[in-house]
Amino acid sequence: MNLPAPGIIWNSLPTPALLIDGEDKVDEVNPAAELFLNLSAKSLRGQTIGERLAISAPLEEIFSRVRKNRASLFVNDVEVTTGEKAPVQCNLQAAPVGEEPDRVLLLIEPRELADRLGRASLVKSAARSAIGMAEMLAHEIKNPLAGIAGAAQLLSMNLSGEDLELTDLIVDETRRIVKLLEQVEQFGNVRAPEKKPVNIHDVLDRARKSAGVGFGAHMTITEEYDPSLPSTLGDADQLTQVFLNLLKNAAEASDGAGKIKIRTFYEHSLRLRRADGSGQPLPLQVEIIDDGPGIPPEIANEIFEPFVSGRENGTGLGLALVSKIISDHDGWVSLDSVPGRTRFRISLPVAPKEA
Ligand SMILES: Nc1ncnc2c1ncn2[C@@H]1O[C@H](COP(=O)(O)OP(=O)(O)OP(=O)(O)O)[C@@H](O)[C@H]1O
Ligand SMILES: [Mg+2]
Repeated sequence: MNLPAPGIIWNSLPTPALLIDGEDKVDEVNPAAELFLNLSAKSLRGQTIGERLAISAPLEEIFSRVRKNRASLFVNDVEVTTGEKAPVQCNLQAAPVGEEPDRVLLLIEPRELADRLGRASLVKSAARSAIGMAEMLAHEIKNPLAGIAGAAQLLSMNLSGEDLELTDLIVDETRRIVKLLEQVEQFGNVRAPEKKPVNIHDVLDRARKSAGVGFGAHMTITEEYDPSLPSTLGDADQLTQVFLNLLKNAAEASDGAGKIKIRTFYEHSLRLRRADGSGQPLPLQVEIIDDGPGIPPEIANEIFEPFVSGRENGTGLGLALVSKIISDHDGWVSLDSVPGRTRFRISLPVAPKEA
């Protein structure tokens, strides 16, 4: 057998894991757990879990049963809450550690994460065929629609009153469908990004300016920028589109009159873990935070998929495009949302020096 050293396995384990000692205190924490709990190993060591986290499960009892039976235990659908974050639904697994009678290994598997990671590639190919199909339909439907609108306009010339209202309705609705179809076509046309070093603040300013003259005219937008942020390697136009879509969603969520905060900062601990175990650091963080009602819970797990929308006139392509562009940039999108505070975070790599 040719296994890597245990420390390497511990550090590259994508599931948050904690080692608990005989007094139910934290002994060790792996990087995935630091990231998930938003707490450093240093601040957790020597503390009981309850001091830093709220977990809706009888941990003491679980640990003592694991010690007594020398067998692992699963607990599903547990809520884990840390400081400022909204509670996350998790599955827990507690297991005895080798020959050591008192130590317990605790794995915390965020349910959403598990769903997402498992489904990611599946979704991509399913989405691709759905989009291909929609593109084809879009193309086919646009021409006859133009004919319908034209015919309605001709008819309307000889009409008055209520009848005119009906032909106007035909024209308005066909226009709306044409616009929707154009969005679908545009979605299918996204080219590969042309990457250059980009100052993320320039991109944000552009997005903010367009938002300010359009959908965001009545929003209060504040900035909290870290001016020392290094450049990322990306396609400025595509990244502008990403932030525009996020700003637009934030504005629409609060009917165009809420508050949006745009925040940028550097966080070196975040890495994108690849299937081969290597990790790409994603230290550039941009957050778009709004004070709207939050993501409707019934679609919360699907909002990045195309055609999923919680709005009456939504196409459901905004976030699908965000997700596609950011994954083309080797970045990461995450969010947490509770009523009154929805935060989308884009994490991006730093442009290499020579670029
Ligand atoms: N900041 C937010 N606050 C609350 N809900 C949101 C927010 N952002 C997205 N959503 C929800 O996610 C859904 C999907 O968003 P997405 O941008 O993909 O599509 P859309 O806005 O409905 O349509 P489109 O962007 O194509 O016009 C939205 O309809 C909305 O219900
Ligand atoms: Mg949108």
